[in-house]
Amino acid sequence: MADYDVIIIGGGPGGYVCAIRCAQLGLKTAVVEGRETLGGTCLNVGCIPSKALLHASHMLHEAQHNFAAMGLKGKTQSVDWKQMLTYKQETIDQNTAGVSFLLKKNKVDHIKGWGKITAKGEVTVGSDKHTAKNIVIATGSEPSALKGVEVDEKVVVTSTGALELNKVPKTLAVIGAGVIGLELGSVYARLGSDVTVIEFLDHITPGMDSETAKVLQRTLKKQGLKFILNAAVQSVEASKTKAKLTYEDRKKNEIHTMDADVVLVATGRRPFTDNLGFTDLGGEMTERGQVKTDAHWKTNIDGIYAIGDVIEGPMLAHKAEDEGMGVAEVLAGNHGHVNYGVIPGVIYTTPEVASVGKTEEQLKEEGVDYKIGKFSFKGNGRAKAVHQGDGFVKILADKTTDRILGCHLIGPSAGDLIHEICVAMEFGASAQDVAMTCHAHPTFSEAMREAALACGGGAIHA
Ligand code: NAI
Repeated sequence: MADYDVIIIGGGPGGYVCAIRCAQLGLKTAVVEGRETLGGTCLNVGCIPSKALLHASHMLHEAQHNFAAMGLKGKTQSVDWKQMLTYKQETIDQNTAGVSFLLKKNKVDHIKGWGKITAKGEVTVGSDKHTAKNIVIATGSEPSALKGVEVDEKVVVTSTGALELNKVPKTLAVIGAGVIGLELGSVYARLGSDVTVIEFLDHITPGMDSETAKVLQRTLKKQGLKFILNAAVQSVEASKTKAKLTYEDRKKNEIHTMDADVVLVATGRRPFTDNLGFTDLGGEMTERGQVKTDAHWKTNIDGIYAIGDVIEGPMLAHKAEDEGMGVAEVLAGNHGHVNYGVIPGVIYTTPEVASVGKTEEQLKEEGVDYKIGKFSFKGNGRAKAVHQGDGFVKILADKTTDRILGCHLIGPSAGDLIHEICVAMEFGASAQDVAMTCHAHPTFSEAMREAALACGGGAIHA
């Protein structure tokens, strides 16, 4: 008889959520995790620590730029970097300890060490072999390497090193204007670094609604970030304290160099499958190095499933969590389901950016007849009261049926506001459904309703 019903390899948001749901459904479950603490990249070196630094640096920015206008006087705040890192670490510790508590509470075994699938239904950790009826691969992702750039995590860093630099750099070059580059670039710009973001494409945040991306870039420029677009980084030469970066201006075919104290490589992540043993057993991978699964997260090997960053789809903690819950249901003999059409995306800059569903570009490409309801936060009393009137909400709805197809917004608490539309889309709601729902005044969420109203008879405060 197998030791477990399910062994999950990887204790990040996908893996630990899957484990808890498996246990709740009555399955004997273990999680194998190689890191010292549970929570994966997200809790240890990703979403959570970056949010702590974004929060702290935002407070500094507010104190330096907006306090005086509100009649708040005092010394200019300065940065105690060591204390900020302590605060960041405390935030991580609280969260990882929380996951540990949840696994214990749900009677999930935590096996410490790096797991390797050594046979069907067998996971080897160090010299111990553990058996299970089913195995779930939830090993996540790691920063992808960039040709000509060697990372030392001190001068040339990935997001991991950028979260624990020994001091705030005077100059920071960020390679890649994706989510990581913009969030961490924002942190250091607010802390006083001279930040330049170098991006291969002619626009930032590929895949995002282009109108929103343009407004985000304009806003970040106002905050001091510099952008070099259409530029392919070719190499970075680093000494102990400085780096020289070489890039090609793709429009002019010219080669340029620039110096920086620190270079952040934020050019994407790749699935992490090192030493996993999956392919040795004949496990199929996609061309992009992802573990290949069917619609119910099953690989080509019976009894082996995979979820999260290691498979296809957006590399987002909440997508992994949903898949974790979905596969747990499947393993318990129920139906597991994830609606991939309604997975929100958020960038935690100030203002925040959030989106769900289709972009205008996608709808045009698909030939869908759509209408736009747009509302500026300038017409929202609450946003003006807190100096956050920049930005807008844009709802895209089917021109004939009024069904909501997508929503893109940039503005205060965008990352929370988007969920109103996620729920609406889950229920197949029309823009009018949102427009007819009473929204409390004065809240930022009134802007969502106004955008929904603008899809029909018209917004009131525009
Ligand atoms: P990304 O894929 O979002 O952006 C990478 C950028 O680098 C692209 O714009 C690309 O064009 C550019 N690039 C690639 N090679 C280049 C070169 N040689 N020179 C200049 N530019 C180059 O990747 P990122 O930001 O590293 O994030 C990785 C993953 O982590 C993403 O899937 C993201 O969704 C996820 N993530 C999500 C967060 C959130 O939801 N808030 C936060 C952080 C990460």
